[in-house]
Amino acid sequence: MLVAVAWPYANGLSHLGHIAGAYLPADIFARYHRIAGNRVLMVSGTDAHGTPITVLADQEGVTPAVIVERFNPRFHEQWDRLGISFDLFTTTMTDNHREVTWEILRGLRDNGYLEARTTDQFYDPVAARFLPDRYVEGTCPNCGADNARGDQCDTCGKTLDPVDLVDPRSKLTGATPEQRPTEHHFILLSKLQEDVRTWLEGREGWRNHVINWALGFVKEGLHDRAITRDLSWGVPLPPDAGLDAPNDKRIYVWFEAVIGYLSASKEWAQRQGDPEAWRAWWEDPSAESYYFVGKDNIPFHAVYWPAQLMGSGELNLPTNVPANQYVTFKGAKASKSFGVGRAALDYLEIFEPDALRYGLATNLPEYNDVDLTDEELVRRVNDELVATWGNLVNRVFAMTSKNLGGVVPEPGTFEDRDRELLATIDAHLAEEGALLEQVELRRALKEAMSGAQAVNGYLNAMAPWKTAKTDAERTATTLYVALQAIAGLTTAFAPFVPFASASLADWFGFTTPLEGGGWARREVAPGTQLGAAAPLFAKVELPDNPA
Ligand code: MF3
Ligand code: ZN
Repeated sequence: MLVAVAWPYANGLSHLGHIAGAYLPADIFARYHRIAGNRVLMVSGTDAHGTPITVLADQEGVTPAVIVERFNPRFHEQWDRLGISFDLFTTTMTDNHREVTWEILRGLRDNGYLEARTTDQFYDPVAARFLPDRYVEGTCPNCGADNARGDQCDTCGKTLDPVDLVDPRSKLTGATPEQRPTEHHFILLSKLQEDVRTWLEGREGWRNHVINWALGFVKEGLHDRAITRDLSWGVPLPPDAGLDAPNDKRIYVWFEAVIGYLSASKEWAQRQGDPEAWRAWWEDPSAESYYFVGKDNIPFHAVYWPAQLMGSGELNLPTNVPANQYVTFKGAKASKSFGVGRAALDYLEIFEPDALRYGLATNLPEYNDVDLTDEELVRRVNDELVATWGNLVNRVFAMTSKNLGGVVPEPGTFEDRDRELLATIDAHLAEEGALLEQVELRRALKEAMSGAQAVNGYLNAMAPWKTAKTDAERTATTLYVALQAIAGLTTAFAPFVPFASASLADWFGFTTPLEGGGWARREVAPGTQLGAAAPLFAKVELPDNPA
């Protein structure tokens, strides 16, 4: 199971929109598959070469590499604190990534999908340089939005060529750019179009908005696309590039960044001391690959990257691209390009990592844009996570401690209600697993929560706090059953709130990790001395004046 997660630009840490859009869903999915016993490889890294990095470097008067080196360790800290469990988080600034990018390039060339062409590109006469796509802005030829960038219009989502823009202007100087001839490599997407279309038409289980967008885009006709640029920052051209002035050119960032999934897999394998280990995820036909991205990345992952793979060799194509819609805060996209919304780490001042993960997981923008508020996150945590799951665990552990010295009791005779509860938990676990496999994460989480509600209903009916005075055997059986149910829910909640599930696994004295243990309820043996339980989650209170 390859879990491929969009590469964040190296110019700033993530906002909640990025976390809910890509990293958290990827992590939930990866954790599920690790528990289920699949071999998971979850990779990403910082996207070092995009315009956002050069813009910040120019502002600060430093080289782009300084920016990447500053933010990469901060990303590692961010993932650790949020519990986002990458197997490797690297950057596209490595020698390995350059080599792998060249391999793909050579594959395309050897198969006849690469061609050098002279074209006109925008040149800023005031700055005396060619302009990268994102340094050109103008009116979208497709929807008329007046803030389209040279690579893409954020209003309608179309990928663009800068020369398509109406009323183009240079972001550097405001000058009207001129077109000047320059020689570049083109990927012959027109020749790959039918293969991509046939492949897309055969996809099953993809989200409607993803497959419809991708197929509609391909049916309009794929155009050959320049994959090099007149730039000084980026992956250099190979020595056998065969272009004029190769040293003044770099590989286009969107062409090489998606190759990062492959280069990161190879880097991971090298770090394992088994350089061929990446092949299990890229060559074995039984391996699956899921690409977690925001909807603005659909063209690059559902169309261009598959085309690059088809044109260069025989590596595995994406199994699914479960792209998410946007999280917005009061209507504005929560993206660092717009500066809206606070950094995810800022939220950890107020929320425990599990609580933030839960609040976001219940609001994942799987089918629609989601307008999020701090109050909604708090409500989810306090009224659901704490009130239902956290309190259930606390109650049952406290009663076991009070009545049974914290030892899992030997159960007496089971009644129907005992059997029914455990069957209900098992059914919720099974349904949750099926939903997780379909990347229906919000619905999957509801199954876990329904399981917790079922245990609460059972306890209310059995009232062990009452039977404790009259019927020791019944009380022991009730607590035994409730503890077994909670042990099952420990697994059910583990992909979503991993820190709490790790504590619970510890309190139950599980001797083998949840990972690899199978997606099933574990039995806790009578006689087990439970660990000293603390409250699983704390209630959240918003500060009076959030900064
Ligand atoms: N850096 C790009 C963004 O934030 C995402 C790149 S995903 C990749 O939109 F695979 F192309 F790297
Ligand atoms: Zn547009």
